[in-house]
Amino acid sequence: MSTPHTGRVRAAVVAGLGSWLPPRVVGNDELAGRIDTSDEWIRTRTGIRRRHVVDPAMPTSRLAVEAGSRALESAGVPDVDVVILATATPDRRCPATAPLVAHRLGLTGRPAFDVSAVCTGFLYALATGAGMIGSGAVERVLVIGADAFSTIVDPLERSTAVVFGDGAGAVVLRAGDPEEPGALGPFVLGSDGSLADLITIRAGGSEHPTVEQPASRPDSYFAMRGQETFALAVARMEEASRSALAKAGWKPGQVDRLVCHQANLRILQAISRRLDVPQERLVVHLDLAGNTAAASIPLALDHGLSTGELTPGARVLLTAFGGGATWGATTLTWPELKR
Ligand code: ACO
Repeated sequence: MSTPHTGRVRAAVVAGLGSWLPPRVVGNDELAGRIDTSDEWIRTRTGIRRRHVVDPAMPTSRLAVEAGSRALESAGVPDVDVVILATATPDRRCPATAPLVAHRLGLTGRPAFDVSAVCTGFLYALATGAGMIGSGAVERVLVIGADAFSTIVDPLERSTAVVFGDGAGAVVLRAGDPEEPGALGPFVLGSDGSLADLITIRAGGSEHPTVEQPASRPDSYFAMRGQETFALAVARMEEASRSALAKAGWKPGQVDRLVCHQANLRILQAISRRLDVPQERLVVHLDLAGNTAAASIPLALDHGLSTGELTPGARVLLTAFGGGATWGATTLTWPELKR
C-alpha cells in the first residue's frame, strides 16, 4: 500500500524521540559460554557485539513505558490523542499491550492499540499514526516500537539466540506542514503472506492452540529461515527504499543518513551498496543492541541523535523488513529535537 503524498495538507511531524534498553547486557562471550558459537562468528557474520535483555519480571510494557515517557519528555508534551504500540512480543496474547502502556504513561482513556508486523512494525505503526493525523482525526500520536525477543527465542538455538536483543524506542508525531523539518514523507508498505513460515512461532495461536495439545519445543519458540530471510530482506528493503525515494522526489545520492532495520550489518551494507548510498551514511546501532525487532529503527534514530550522526536538515531514509513477510520505507528531513 502506498499513501498518496501530493495534496496532503496535514503532515505528521516527528516532534519527540526517546528510547530505552534494559540494564542487563549479554556479550558474545557470555553466549559462547552456553551455546556452540564464538564472538568471532557473531561479529563477522552479524556485526553484533552485545545485546540487552530483560529480567524475568520485565515485560515488553515496561520497555515501552520507559521509551514512551522519554519521547513525551523530548517533545515537551504530557499528552497525546492516541498510543500505537508496535510489538511482536506483547505482554499477553490477549488483550493488546498498548492500553496498559497508555495507562502507565498517565494516558488512561486515550485510544491505544497494538500493531503486529514484527520487524516492520514500527514503520507500519508510524504510517498508521501519520494517517490518523493526515485525516484530521487526531493532533498528536505516540508511536512506540518495543520488543523482548529474549522471551520467545530458544536460548539453545544458535542461529537466533545470538541475533536478537530487547529494547524500545518511541516518537511523538504532531500535525504540521509537509514542508517543515520532521514531516514524514510518503510511505511504501508491503506484505506477502505466502512467506508466513519464513519468520514464525508456530504454536500458541488459533491454528495450534497449546491449551489442547502441548507444542513441541521448536514449535513453541521463534523460528527464522535465516539465509532466505537475508536475501529477501535486502531485496524488499531496496525496492521499498527506491519507491519511497521516488515518491519523495529524492535521488539515492541525496540521502544523508540511511536507517535500516538493524537485522545484520551485512544486510545494511548490501542495501547501501545496492542503493549506491555510501556506507559511512548508514546509522548502525546493532553492534550495541542486536536485532531489537520493532524497536530497532527508533533505537537507531535515538542513537544517531546522541552521536551527532543525525543533524537538523539531514535527509533520512527509513526502511525495514520483517515477519509476515512485511516491509516498508519512508523519508524525512531531520528536525531539531531535544533528548
Ligand atoms: N555460531 C556459529 N555458527 C553458526 C551460528 C552461530 N551463532 N549460527 C549458525 N551457524 C552455522 C550454521 O549452523 C551453518 O553451519 P553449516 O554450514 O555447518 O550448516 C553456518 O553457520 C552458516 O549458517 P547460515 O544460516 O547460512 O548463516 P548466515 O551467515 O546466514 O547467518 C543469520 C545466520 C545471522 C541468522 C543470517 O542469516 C541473518 O542475519 N538473516 C537475516 C535476518 C533478518 O533479516 N531478519 C530480519 C527480520 S527478523 C524479524 O522480523 C523478527
